[in-house]
Amino acid sequence: MSKLAIIGGTGLTQLADLKIVKREQFNTPYGAPSAEFITGELGDKKVIFLARHGNPHRFAPHKINYRANIWALKQLGVEQIIAVAAVGGITPDMGPAHIAIPDQIIDYSYGREHTFFDNDQEGVTHIDFTYPYSQKLRSRLITAAAQAQLKISPLGTYGCAQGPRLETAAEIKRMEQDGCDLVGMTGMPEAALAKELSIDYAAIAVVANWAAGKTEGEITMAEIEQHLHKGMADAALLLKAFISQ
Ligand code: HPA
Repeated sequence: MSKLAIIGGTGLTQLADLKIVKREQFNTPYGAPSAEFITGELGDKKVIFLARHGNPHRFAPHKINYRANIWALKQLGVEQIIAVAAVGGITPDMGPAHIAIPDQIIDYSYGREHTFFDNDQEGVTHIDFTYPYSQKLRSRLITAAAQAQLKISPLGTYGCAQGPRLETAAEIKRMEQDGCDLVGMTGMPEAALAKELSIDYAAIAVVANWAAGKTEGEITMAEIEQHLHKGMADAALLLKAFISQ
């Protein structure tokens, strides 16, 4: 089986059922990754876990060293990444605590180190990014969700906002008109960097809240945490089913 890594996002800084075998610090030509890499066993399968925002949670989405994270995973021999990420729900079927396996991305982020191919000496490489997520991994996740009896959305367009603030109602309206179903802050450049290094990458998007303007009143951190608690428990079940396939 290919070597698998799980990148945990907000609400998933550790994997409860992971039997830890090894913890490794790593440095890279791009600087330090977000956290140590935890190798462990989930069921009878080996996985590497990385907390995207650090552990404890300390890096805002625009401060995450995405290049260091993905580079280090490649050096560790990782061939597949499942990224878990909290999102806001835009379209009606993406309510709080819901899970989606997105198939497309629109990138609204800016100012992030977003490529490994910006060094003149390496020449310019234009990766194909028509389908940003691995179809093979997405199919396996969708099957795993059925096995775990989880009702998920098997498709969705992920809009990557800059953050760390949440969006305005008008920004969400624009994203919806663009075709976004979900809004998050960390999907890019992570997905593109994985593709640049030929690592299969798919995401489990966990809805923390209705996106701005999709519900009355303010979006509170308390609300986000409450929905993530339920959604991340389902994401953990989904991961377990995925790994035991
Ligand atoms: N917007 C962007 N990112 C998010 C949100 C949101 O509403 N909720 C969780 N991550």
